Amino acid sequence: MKIISVVGARPNFMKVAPFIKAIKENPQNINVEHLLVHTGQHYDDRMSKAFFEALNIPEAEINLGIGSGTHAGQVGHSMIELEKVFVHEKPDWVVIYGDVNATMAATVTAKKLHINVCHVEAGLRSGDMKMPEEINRLVTDRLADLLLVPDKLSIENLRKEGVPESKIEFVGNIMIDTLEANHEKASKLDINEILQKNALSLSHFVSLSPKSPYALMTLHRPSNVDDKTILEAITQFIRNEVTKEIPLIWAVHPRTEKQLKAFGLWNQLMDTENIYLVHPLDYHSMLKLNMHASIMLTDSGGLQEECTVLGTPCLTMRWNTERPITLREHGGASVLVGNNIERIRKEFFDTLQQERKPERPELWDGKTAERCLQAILNYEGE
Ligand code: UD1
Repeated sequence: MKIISVVGARPNFMKVAPFIKAIKENPQNINVEHLLVHTGQHYDDRMSKAFFEALNIPEAEINLGIGSGTHAGQVGHSMIELEKVFVHEKPDWVVIYGDVNATMAATVTAKKLHINVCHVEAGLRSGDMKMPEEINRLVTDRLADLLLVPDKLSIENLRKEGVPESKIEFVGNIMIDTLEANHEKASKLDINEILQKNALSLSHFVSLSPKSPYALMTLHRPSNVDDKTILEAITQFIRNEVTKEIPLIWAVHPRTEKQLKAFGLWNQLMDTENIYLVHPLDYHSMLKLNMHASIMLTDSGGLQEECTVLGTPCLTMRWNTERPITLREHGGASVLVGNNIERIRKEFFDTLQQERKPERPELWDGKTAERCLQAILNYEGE
């Protein structure tokens, strides 16, 4: 059997790593040939290469070098190049992950060539059609043959859309396989070394005292970073309130760095005391910081999930989430705060008082990749 995995952006890399490992270990010794295709949507070393190295992902056999661009540009170019690869390689399956542009581009291209498609992390829905990822999810799940879901709420979403049961398989969350496999290595890292190694500027660097509490932040959604009024309000809240209370480590996504500079907000952040602005972090460094953070502020879906398992109290800076299982009302660690400063302020001060409370949703057990491979091998068609 020949399988091609297609990845494109950072959140795909921690999902493909355990799948490749499961194929290598393949207990039933079924002959599986695997090819990895990287569309190249994320191309910076810190957004891509660092993850391949840290997670032992073999170098992609094929890199399409798509790079940045508009959504249609990224998807269109990816489709043109993927079509050539699929026609030439004739895979039995194309496996795609999550909800990035590569996920949808590969699905549409493969289905038009009558190739089976398996979606790892199917069934998530935010209901927000302004999110590019929601469009990617809807198109992908409508077309894919095998929908591997991370939690039971996602099964319900697919049922409501009329997806036949035969296409759906509950396998758990593959991101947690990666978290489990790397927890020990991450726990040995030193927080100040991480901060120094990744600092955007060392001119005001002061070591964090051991056991000092800190807040951790990431932000990259267009809805938070592309509008000056919103991004300015968030940075003011951080400078005037958060950093007065607790040191803040902010791992700045390339998109966000560009916008902060374009809006003239960068220099004042750099000059703020008690703030640690760092480059996008490698997997183990982010995991280590998350393990000890007093609070997470993020708009990332993956971090919401990791906070649930690690128990880090999390403010999700969005109005909705495709991952409701991570919310406090479903036993998770996170609360939706959107980008309204009043709401963020209230939840920030309330949440700072909370203890860590690790939770394990069903089948978030580190063995999801094996179940994904089994589901493909057992597939009998509709
Ligand atoms: C993408 C995904 C999103 C995911 C996020 C995680 C889609 C639709 N979005 O959003 O689901 O949560 O990745 O990071 O696929 N850039 C660099 N270097 C890089 C990558 C990007 O400088 O390595 C710049 C690009 O030039 C662009 C901006 O960052 O201007 C945004 O990149 P883009 O790939 O469009 O989307 P993300 O916001 O990263």
